[in-house]
Amino acid sequence: MVKKIKQNISLALLVTLCIVLSGCVSTQSYKPDSPKYAHLAMTPPMGWNSWNFFAKEIDEAKIKAVADAMVSSGMRDAGYEYLVLDDAWMAAERDKNGALQADPVKFPKGMKEIGDYIHSKGLKFGIYEDRAFRTCQSLPGSFEHEEIDMKTFAAWGVDYIKMDSCSAEGNGRLSSEDYMLYRKYIEKAGRPIVLSISDFGSAAWVWGGKESSQLWRTGWDIRHSMHSVYRCADCSGGNNRIHPAFNGLWQFAGPGYWNDPDMLQVGNFTIEDKKVLESANKAHFGLWCILASPLMAGNDLRVITDSVRDILTSPEVIAVNQDKRGLQGYKVFVDGNLEVYNKPLADGTTAVLLLNKGKDTADITVTWEMIGLSGKQPVRDLWEHKDIGTFEDSFSAKGLGEHGNMMLKIGKKGRPLPAPAPMSLEKYTITRKGVTSLCDLYYAWREHNPPVYNKTFDGKPIVIDGKTFERGFGCKTKTDFMFAGTERGDRLIGTVAIDESYQGENSGRFRIYHEDRFANRVLWDSGQMTKDSPAKEFNIELKDYNCIMLTFDGKNKENGKNANDVLGVFADPQIIAND
Ligand code: GLA
Repeated sequence: MVKKIKQNISLALLVTLCIVLSGCVSTQSYKPDSPKYAHLAMTPPMGWNSWNFFAKEIDEAKIKAVADAMVSSGMRDAGYEYLVLDDAWMAAERDKNGALQADPVKFPKGMKEIGDYIHSKGLKFGIYEDRAFRTCQSLPGSFEHEEIDMKTFAAWGVDYIKMDSCSAEGNGRLSSEDYMLYRKYIEKAGRPIVLSISDFGSAAWVWGGKESSQLWRTGWDIRHSMHSVYRCADCSGGNNRIHPAFNGLWQFAGPGYWNDPDMLQVGNFTIEDKKVLESANKAHFGLWCILASPLMAGNDLRVITDSVRDILTSPEVIAVNQDKRGLQGYKVFVDGNLEVYNKPLADGTTAVLLLNKGKDTADITVTWEMIGLSGKQPVRDLWEHKDIGTFEDSFSAKGLGEHGNMMLKIGKKGRPLPAPAPMSLEKYTITRKGVTSLCDLYYAWREHNPPVYNKTFDGKPIVIDGKTFERGFGCKTKTDFMFAGTERGDRLIGTVAIDESYQGENSGRFRIYHEDRFANRVLWDSGQMTKDSPAKEFNIELKDYNCIMLTFDGKNKENGKNANDVLGVFADPQIIAND
């Protein structure tokens, strides 16, 4: 059965969208001092990053060869401007003044020299750090060296910083505070540097990442498999990280602040069938373009094949990504593995991706109704650089094989087409006076098993000690979810218990956090609970909070590892505002 995602479109709503987008996640009161950097990343950043192909094995010769290849392959001229050195460029120790320094074996001439080389090629210089005391590869991190590191980077001519989050649980600071510190010290250092939040998708769109940074990760690390590509794409464009009512994260992105489903694996797949390989590369690239994702290539540019080069530099597909309007594309049709995405463009036309994520050959149709058009409309194939003709009411791609896709431009130039209505603030933010049941709000972020509203995870009524609760969340094994908030709301009350239907011996622990897990601000902790533990009530004072995260972690009785069966409930969680 075909399922349509209905788009509720009107011009008036477009105006509302613009107003709402300018303030919908500004949960932070701090504003960067300097409007002079407000122009950064007005379209999704494009570049190349060393991690996906080289991992830790980078050195001066390789990076310079990649810089040369960015020019000779045409990547630079296609728009890829940042060359970013990921983890493991630095020495194991800071220098005697506490400054970071290059690994003396990998980069014997130092980082300024490599930056100068990158700049001499007409490219910009990007670098990696981590906001904890050590990076993901256990090298020196920036914690408690924030100011000196930003000063050092500025002196080296750095234009882009990917700031990672491994070990940041130990910082004792909210993520929003951490990233704002870097923004502050970047501005103090006086260089317009793009700041990229790398935090495995821990809700920067909820806690206000756009106040400090130009892009934020929406999910875990991408691998070189299409399974991983689709999973990452669904962190930005689907409901892997947000309540399904949102239709992806599109409403949280725009010029200057982007959802980042991680770097590209185009050119890194090991798929034997050449046709399927080409489709996979195009499917990955097309998805990133329609989702207005940052385009950070991650393949070995020194040995790029013609096919991969043509895909990565395809001008009309890149133009969709770089469209000045900056609207992130969204799904307008899903039927199993078949998907249609839409991205209305600045020139009045719209970009459409038809994608077969499955193995079986299929036809996919986009109707004009799905994309806000009617009548006869011109259709252009952006991969083939070809006008295909004029079609009435719909267009069908025939016989799309495994990962098969088409990237189209549909419609005539003119007034921009309206965007769909964003989810309104009040449906996902704790802003009301009086009593707000969290069960009346959509969570704006989640990880692991999604919570089930007003039922146990297994879909049964929530019953604790014989009392049935109409409201609550059913959780299983590992369930994390977050609600956006404002400073309003004074107390959070509710009850937790291991689900009555769970008869196993494993335990579960309920915790309530201010902001994400990295911030590690635990407001309330149930401790380990088993099926025999009495229910526990929480009654927490909320002060100056951004957002609230509820978590449930199952633990295996035998070995203390994650349990895969235990069920828990948050019954009747309510926010009480006094005024
Ligand atoms: C994390 C990031 C990756 C990469 C590695 C480097 O896993 O998510 O993108 O930067 O660290 O150690």
